[in-house]
Amino acid sequence: MAISEIKYKEIAPPPRWTEFRSEFGVIGRSEKMRQIFETIEQVAPTDIPVLIYGESGTGKELIAHAIHAKSRRKARPLVIVNCGAIPEGILESELFGHERGAFTGAIAARKGYFEMADGSTVFLDEIAEMPLGTQVKLLRVLEGREFMKVGGTESIQVDVRLIAATNKELEREVQKGNFREDLYYRLNAVSIRVPPLRERKEDIRELVNHFAANFCKANHIEFEGFTEGAYRLLEDYPWPGNVRELKNVTESMIVLEKGGKITEGIVPKYLSKFFEMDRHLPVRVPRTSEEADRELIYRALIDLKAEIGQLRELIFQRVFPPKRLKPWPAEESEVYTGVLQADEKNTYPVEDNSFEGMSLEDMEKELIRRTLEKVGGNKRKAASILKISERTLYRKIKEYNLPF
Ligand SMILES: Nc1ncnc2c1ncn2[C@@H]1O[C@H](COP(=O)(O)OP(=O)(O)OP(=O)(O)O)[C@@H](O)[C@H]1O
Ligand SMILES: [Mg+2]
Repeated sequence: MAISEIKYKEIAPPPRWTEFRSEFGVIGRSEKMRQIFETIEQVAPTDIPVLIYGESGTGKELIAHAIHAKSRRKARPLVIVNCGAIPEGILESELFGHERGAFTGAIAARKGYFEMADGSTVFLDEIAEMPLGTQVKLLRVLEGREFMKVGGTESIQVDVRLIAATNKELEREVQKGNFREDLYYRLNAVSIRVPPLRERKEDIRELVNHFAANFCKANHIEFEGFTEGAYRLLEDYPWPGNVRELKNVTESMIVLEKGGKITEGIVPKYLSKFFEMDRHLPVRVPRTSEEADRELIYRALIDLKAEIGQLRELIFQRVFPPKRLKPWPAEESEVYTGVLQADEKNTYPVEDNSFEGMSLEDMEKELIRRTLEKVGGNKRKAASILKISERTLYRKIKEYNLPF
């Protein structure tokens, strides 16, 4: 046995896929996923940057969570920044913060995500979308662990671990001149390639069961399960949208079949690319446009029901304001569970009836302003609380000229 192997065994005990399933909700029995778990075990305790590659929906964000959760930084929240969702012109100030007066509209100094993530991990999603100018600044952070705010003169020291993800071939982006070569090498110290689902069919059955169980539990559905033939069809499908598509299809089938047994006769209706797959499959029933519309309506109804519930709650609080302070609504995202947990315990006054007589537009503006204020200007968190996309939030901030 080579010495390196003995050392490896001493420092890194064999990873357990069951642990990844129970602790982080990451499913994977395939050899490819086992290798990923092994890499996570090895790199998580270090501060080495990690670059995660993979097609859309393969689980890159989930893996970033697992790396952070297994690191010494786990007590602090993982800070996620989607470089593709933030308008190019303001990404730099979002990441590094800005001083008062740094640009038109910067009426107050603001901390950036890197400063907020001091002692923690920053996950830069869709890194290939980062403008070249911002890439220079990021390289400096990686090399010297310091940066300057936009319009600032003093450098700020931070202790941040970086994880980045992309569904583009970064090497090709370097060749095309869209991505800095020096940054690429720096980020690529450890890279994890998350294989598309079609390359790890052994994971499909467990993923389906996992999504079905979670969905039925959350929606109080009694589900009769899948037949062996149904599993086999799901395993044969190429899943162009990867795990995300598998999750959506599983949930759609359960809702639309009203919890009844999912058989091999039912599955094809839900697989849009069914005609393009294996020619030997027995049933070839395309999903009709009527059925696709029905599914869309169902999904919209489920979303609407949830929104009506939230609105009802909000109106109820406004009309019958409680005398005491109400807790700030818990956010859905599990991202900010450390430091920002303190925020969740904060309270906000609901007895102020300040929305009375306001137009819908003004109410929206005020709600956005208050939410942003409450979360210290953190757009991702505010968007998650308001249940709108980050992009929409940015548009609204601009539209209402809000100072964030
Ligand atoms: N191995 C897995 N086990 C359990 N759930 C998974 C797994 N991989 C992905 N998922 C689920 O699939 C969905 C998509 O995963 P995720 O957002 O991590 O993908 P992604 O690679 O970041 O996609 P994108 O490139 O589009 O951002 C999420 O709901 C995630 O929880
Ligand atoms: Mg992602």
